[in-house]
Amino acid sequence: MQALILAGGEGTRLRPLTSTTPKPVIPLVNRPFLTYMFDWLHRHGVNEAIISCGFLAGKVRDVLGDESCGLRLRYIDEDTPLGTAGAIKNGERFLDRRFLALNGDVLTDMDLTALIKFHEKNEAVGTIALTPVADPSNYGLVRTREDGEILEFLEKPEPEQIDTDLINAGAYVLEHDVLDMIPEGENVSIERQIFPKLVGKGLYAWEDRNYWLDIGTPERYLQATYDIIEERIDSGGVTGPFGSDGGKDAIAIGSGTEVHPSARLIGPASIGSGCKVGPDTVIERAVLLDGCLIGANSLVRESVIGVGARVGEEVRIEQDAVVGSGARIGSGRVVSSGSRIEEGVELSEGAVVGKSDE
Ligand code: GDD
Ligand code: MG
Repeated sequence: MQALILAGGEGTRLRPLTSTTPKPVIPLVNRPFLTYMFDWLHRHGVNEAIISCGFLAGKVRDVLGDESCGLRLRYIDEDTPLGTAGAIKNGERFLDRRFLALNGDVLTDMDLTALIKFHEKNEAVGTIALTPVADPSNYGLVRTREDGEILEFLEKPEPEQIDTDLINAGAYVLEHDVLDMIPEGENVSIERQIFPKLVGKGLYAWEDRNYWLDIGTPERYLQATYDIIEERIDSGGVTGPFGSDGGKDAIAIGSGTEVHPSARLIGPASIGSGCKVGPDTVIERAVLLDGCLIGANSLVRESVIGVGARVGEEVRIEQDAVVGSGARIGSGRVVSSGSRIEEGVELSEGAVVGKSDE
């Protein structure tokens, strides 16, 4: 079985993490994100992944190579974004009669084998995996009949349209025929332009209640980190390179990282390789990517610190902040909740950044 992975979005909501590192390969608990998808696909019999890249395509290939986690990898580039359907069409020459198409920003252990079986049983033209979420407004809402046939597909529904918690989980089984409906070389959205046209023509939905999370915002990226470390997602026995004990205070730590004995790590937290954490500093439910230096007496709480960032002494970085790679935060600074510090920016000593609660 083949899987086409849609990995061409710009990852705007994860900036500045995704300014120079494309979303498909941002490290999640010290592994490139897509490798979690590869392990999952491999467990369900997929042997080849076609990765549809747009933004920073070369970097995706540099990180993942031609083979990973038991999958052969192929790459397709886009000069201009083709949209989710256009990108699938662009891979037509590589695709078999039946294939999987997947959003490339979803962390899940859904039962793809059952999805494929359901598709076959119905002789469907397309089958969409559904997952329940608390608020469907940022997703594609799907209304179905009892037997799973899709009645309506509403991308990013208005509040008054929401009458189910089931949304498109971004995993589809598609027959090659669907490709005939997509014009070549144009920007076409499968959610907005193709699925609505397939309603009544053999489009089915299959509900799955396993772990599912779109990692596309800093809050959800942090949540994904916690969920992997605390083993809320089934990784099929595959552990990360720096596997945790799965306990409540679990911390994943990369190689060559030095944590001062008086520093306190409050898990779940993930620290990359080659980092230094100074005396009396507290790292609480946070992510430090590779090569971060954090000075003495500082606090990093529920935030993400990019590759090679330097944080001075007595700095406080509050919840949901994202510090871009190579940024420098001078001693005594307070980086308040929700702040974004762009890559490479240097903040001198002293003042508060962002909307402060102090
Ligand atoms: N190659 C390519 N080209 N990939 C693209 C393009 C493009 O022009 N546009 C988006 N993608 C990729 C993104 O990288 C991402 O992996 C996937 O397609 C979905 O795009 P997002 O921008 O993340 O969409 P979304 O999260 O707002 O909504 C989609 O996912 C939801 C589930 O997470 C929709 O499919 C919703 O219906 C769904 O509920
Ligand atoms: Mg998304």
